Parts: sequence; C-alpha cells; structure tokens
Amino acid sequence: MKKAAFFGIFILALTFVACNSGTGSSKVSSDSSSPFAAEVDSLLSIMTLEEKIGQMNQYNGFWNVTGPVPAGDEAANKKYDHLKKGWVGSMLNVRGVENVRAVQKIAVEETRLGIPLIIGFDAIHGYKTLSPIPLAEAASWDMEAIKRSAEVSAAESAASGINWTFAPMVDIGRDPRWGRVMEGAGEDPYLGSKIAMARVKGFQGDDLSDPFTIAACTKHFAGYGFAEGGKDYNTADFGSSTLYNMVLPPFKATVDADVKTFMNSFNVLNGIPATGDEFLQREILKGQWNFQGFVVSDWGSIGEMIPHGYAEDGKHAAELAANAGSDMDMESYLYVEHLAALVQEGKVDEAYINDAARRILTVKYELGLFENPYKYCDEAREKATIGKEAHQEAVLDMAKKSIVLLKNENKLLPLKKSGQRIAVIGQFANDKNSPLGSWRIAADDNTAVSLMEGMAAYPDNRLTYALGAQVSVGPTSFVMETKINEDDTSGFAEAIRVARSADVVVMNLGEVGWQTGEGRSRANIDLPGVQQELLEAVYKVNKNIVLVLQSGRPLALPWADENIPAIVQAWQLGTQSGNAIAQVLYGDYNPSGKMPMTTPRDKGQIPLYYNHKSTGRPTIPAPNLVFWQHYMDESNDPLYPFGHGLSYTEFKYDGLEVNANGDGSYKVSFTLTNSGAVKGKEVAQLYIQDVTASVTRPVRELKGFELVELEPGASKEITFNISDAELGFYNNDGEFIVEDGLFRVFVGGSSATQYSTEFAR
Ligand code: NOJ
Repeated sequence: MKKAAFFGIFILALTFVACNSGTGSSKVSSDSSSPFAAEVDSLLSIMTLEEKIGQMNQYNGFWNVTGPVPAGDEAANKKYDHLKKGWVGSMLNVRGVENVRAVQKIAVEETRLGIPLIIGFDAIHGYKTLSPIPLAEAASWDMEAIKRSAEVSAAESAASGINWTFAPMVDIGRDPRWGRVMEGAGEDPYLGSKIAMARVKGFQGDDLSDPFTIAACTKHFAGYGFAEGGKDYNTADFGSSTLYNMVLPPFKATVDADVKTFMNSFNVLNGIPATGDEFLQREILKGQWNFQGFVVSDWGSIGEMIPHGYAEDGKHAAELAANAGSDMDMESYLYVEHLAALVQEGKVDEAYINDAARRILTVKYELGLFENPYKYCDEAREKATIGKEAHQEAVLDMAKKSIVLLKNENKLLPLKKSGQRIAVIGQFANDKNSPLGSWRIAADDNTAVSLMEGMAAYPDNRLTYALGAQVSVGPTSFVMETKINEDDTSGFAEAIRVARSADVVVMNLGEVGWQTGEGRSRANIDLPGVQQELLEAVYKVNKNIVLVLQSGRPLALPWADENIPAIVQAWQLGTQSGNAIAQVLYGDYNPSGKMPMTTPRDKGQIPLYYNHKSTGRPTIPAPNLVFWQHYMDESNDPLYPFGHGLSYTEFKYDGLEVNANGDGSYKVSFTLTNSGAVKGKEVAQLYIQDVTASVTRPVRELKGFELVELEPGASKEITFNISDAELGFYNNDGEFIVEDGLFRVFVGGSSATQYSTEFAR
C-alpha cells in the first residue's frame, strides 16, 4: 500500500476511535495515557482478529529478501504469504537498509492496512563497531561511558534499518560457568540496576522517534541467570527472597527508565516456564510495575513449553503463553496458527489480543514508524554512520575503562616505553577475531585491533612474538563447534626461546571469543587447552611475566595468582581491543576497572558471590574443629572479590563517619586520598549490612559507589546519603520494608574491605 493510501486508512480509522473493540476485560493492563492512544485505538478498531494476532507474530529473516522467494522453499513461502496478509508484526535478523526496506515495503505497500514492521536485532555490544562485551563494560562502573557505548550501538543499528535491540540482558550472573555471564553486568543487583538503566537510556535516548535511537528490550524475564550448574537453558530454582531482592531489581529499574519491551526466558522457575508465567508477566511486570510496553517471547520459547512438560501441544502452548502475558511470539509460529481459534473457543480472551496488539502498535508509533516507515532506511546515513571515527573513539574509551588490573607486584606495570626487549606470547596477541567476543552478528570477522598491532604504537622497545600454543583448531564460527587444542605443545620451544632473552614477557592467554555466549557454558573455568602448561613452561625461564587475560568470564587461575607478578583482566574488548590494552600496559591509561563478578579460586566453590547470607556457623569456633561452614580442601575466600581492581597509584580511605540527617536518612562520609605517585581513578564503594532482620540479609550489599579521579597527594571528601531505599529490603511477600536495628557500613576499594562503622536506626 502506498503511503498516501495508508494515511487514508489512518483517517478512516480515527473515525472509529470510540470503538475500543473488546478491551473491557479487567485483566488487561495497557492504559490510555500514551500520546498515541487515540491513533492506536482507532487502528485497532478496524483490524480483524487475524491482523491483530499478526502483530503478535515475529519471524526471523527468511530468504534473501532483495531477491525472489526461493521456489519450493515451503517455509519461506509461508512466511512471505503471511507477511503479505498483514500477519507479521515484526522481523528479526533482517539488517542493512536495502534488506529492511524490502521487507518493510511488503508490509507497508502490499497489506490491507499497511502497518509497518518493527525490525529487531541482537545488537548486544555494538553493531559493526564493537564495544567490549557487556560484562567487561560493567567492570568500568562508569555509567556515562556505558550509556555512550549503547548510543553508538543504537546509532549504527538504526542506520542499518533496525528499530529494536534485544538488549540489555540484566540477568544476575553468579555462576561463571554460564556462558551468558558475558552478556550481563555481573552478580550485583545494585550495580546491575544502574547499568541496566544506563543502557536503556543509551539505546532509547530521550526521544524514541529520533532516527538515531532504537527501542531496548530488557531480558530475560526472569531467573535465566540462575540456570542450575551454570548450564544454559537449565532449570532455575530459588526462593522469594532471592527473586525479589536479587533477580527482579534490575528488571524493575529498566521499567523505571521507560524501557519499551521485555523478553521472557527459556527457563523454568519454580516449575513454571517463564514464558507461560502469569505471575511474572501479568501480576508483577504489567500489574505491580505498570509496564506499558510489550513482552516478546524468547526464540521458540512458546513451543519449548511442550518439552518442558508444561504444554500438551502447540495449541495449548499458545494458550498458556497468551494468557500469561507473552505479547509476541518469536519464531514458534504458534500464535499465528492457533490464537484465532483459541479466541473463538473462549480459551483466550480477545481482550488479551487487543491488549498485546495495542502495546506493540504503541511502540511502533513511538518509534515514528507510522509517520514514516522508511525513516531508518537511508543508504547515505548508513554509509556515513557505520564505523565512523567518533564511534571508534567511544569504543576505545570504553575498552580502556573496562580493563581490570588484578595484580601488579613490584610495579612490573606499567611497562617502560623504551630500551626493553619484550616477548609477546600467545595466540590471542595476534588474533583479530577473538577480541570481538560473542554476540557480534553484524561485525565483520577479524576486525579487532590485535594486541600486537596495539603494541606497535610503542616502537622504542624490541618486540618478539611467539604463538606458544594454538588454543582452538578448526572452525570457530557462531554455529560450529569450537575445537580446543588439548595436546599440541609444539610451539612451546619457540615461546621459551623468545622468553629467555626478554626483559619482560607479555602472555596473552584466555578464551576464544566463542567460548562464552548463548549455549556456551563451560564445566571448567580455567585456561582452555595447553595454555596453563605453556604459562608454567615460560615461567621457568623468565618470571617477569605480565599475564593479559582475555576471557568472557572470570577464570579461576590460582597458580597464576600465586606466581605471576602482573595480571590484567582484558576480557574481550571489541574493535579497539589491542589499542586499549597497549595503552594500559604502557601506562598511558591508568586502569580503574573493578570486577563485577567474584572470581573463584576453584570451580568447586561456585556459586561464590559476595552478597551471600551468613550461616549459623560462619567462622571456626576453635582450632581444628570441623563443625563450621567450610570446605576441607579449599578456602572460603575468592581469588578476587567482587569490586576488586588495582591502579598504578594507591588510594587511602579514612575518617569514616555516619551521621543522622534528622529526616530519617543518614550521611556516610569519609576521605579518599591518592597516596601514590600518579593521577588515578578509584571506584569508592559503599556496602551496608542489616545485621538482624525479619528475613535474614546478606553479609553486605553494595548500596553506593562513586568514580573519583585524583591527582597524586590529593584528597576528596566523599559522601553518600542513605535512606530507606538503601536500608530496606523486600520481604518474602514482595513488600518493600525497612526495619529498625543495627546497620554496619563498609567503605573501600572492593567488597572485601574491612573498613567499617555502624549505627542504629
Ligand atoms: C535467543 C536468546 O536467548 C535471546 O537473548 C536472543 O535475543 C534471541 N535468541 C534472538 O536472537
């Protein structure tokens, strides 16, 4: 349908504005406060049931959309047919202006009502220009930089025709075996909430109709990060205290930040698949939180309720999901097939269909798609935006801020800029692909700056390189198995030779980019393949080793922590990876990152997280007694605590005080001093413990942080105001309460700080 004709229908629709077809049910919750309510209602009033259900149907890109539909491809033909009938509301994985225009044209010009599609895509840490993986960004604790990174991702995605990203993932991750920890903000709900909000603001901006912004999608609602054993897609099982206080807060924060969409999740929680969970979606999200956007299922998750043992068949699954509040079906094909009959049979209230369609149409209006369905389709803008210089600068800045200095004995770092013989060892140092990490669908292979390339910017040292060990062998693409080399040590001799004659050895070891992400859990969180042996072999001939760890999760490397003098957590840092690492190694950037997840000493300690509960037997009562909470063969302590990260300078905390403000809130104050020799940034952290409560509280919880930059010798008084929001908690009925009693306050540079005071409320 041509644009003019489309507006004709639009005006016709307006005349039906009073007719709000069948939304009288008290169970639906979309309200009429949206500025587009009248337009949406009038459009709904002229839509057939099938067309409304069509809005709830999302298809993956299904053929080379700029060419003819392949003959004989039944699935593609069916999808094409549905698209032309107006039975498709959204598509994902169609990208690039030319392709998006082609599908949009069918929706707008060939269907009865010409309703535009909303085009979704997983722009998880960038589109073509990649930022660090989200877990790495979280290590920056820098909300401005994180927001900027999401803006870059939005600008490039929007320029390539995309309207909607399936990010941020806000699942709390306590288990580093779970491959998707790379996609979140780590283990803490307070930090996670701040980051979730920054990301939503970055993607959506202040005006969704701005063609450089896109709709965000908070996922995966809920509990997905608690997959048992860290195995992706596995069951999650936890109680209400954890649900309300740990899992839900980052989701709620994004509703407060006006996120436009949610995605539910693959997992079962307390026996109910999240996709079919009415309590989560209708009662909490759309009810208590008054979320006005729409919920998309995860890929095929409506159909997966059958193998879960919850739905009898596809029709039953569609009924359960629609009634539970899943508004859009991603790739199960079940809504389009069964919902109309389910409505006719009285099994799904038509009010639910109207409610879902209204939510989806509203977001399309907010994006400006009705005003101009092709507003994201501009080849000149696409060309000018993708990969532009300002984006490279933003992701480089983000990458530097994401690096965590885990250990730095004898000030081995920063490296001297001249007169040094530096041996660089390891596959990743010469690898332009792994630093891109997982979830980088639109980025071209081998487009990261490698560490060797980054270090070449410092030409006054003599660099030698040795592979040492090939980590992965064979194809390592998104769909194929990553084969790890478990036995080939033929490169060791050369590595030992270059290390022997070097002043300093930089070993760039870790995980292949595809070893984290969806479906990529690991039972071990060590150095894959023969890298540990390589590290130990090199150490025998040169102890001056800087270990640069590239990984999508914290790795448990107790031997390295004990023996290697300098360790840098460099994650997978995206397009500008090598430049960022080199600038940190040479001290042109003083690292300030702090770990957003606890690093265990051993996988047997998992789950290990700082904000755990106490037990009745937390400490050893007397030497040699066994009856207390501990392992016989491993310490209770982590290798690196949550919030840990060093700098090339040192920071001192003193003068801690808590004073009542007189209005029920308290002022925590202390002085932070840069006691070292160079300028640096510190993330000053505030933790609180509610010592005794009607539901036991964690031993401490992050309740504030500030990123402070200080010249050497300079001090700053830091203050945090703590009120009910920081002192209260959710009881097991989900009510937020604050109780009187003793509170302990800890401040410092990590969650392990013992610097504390207390006060009574
Ligand atoms: C499955 C993933 O769980 C989800 O996060 C992603 O957005 C969808 N696939 C679409 O790719």
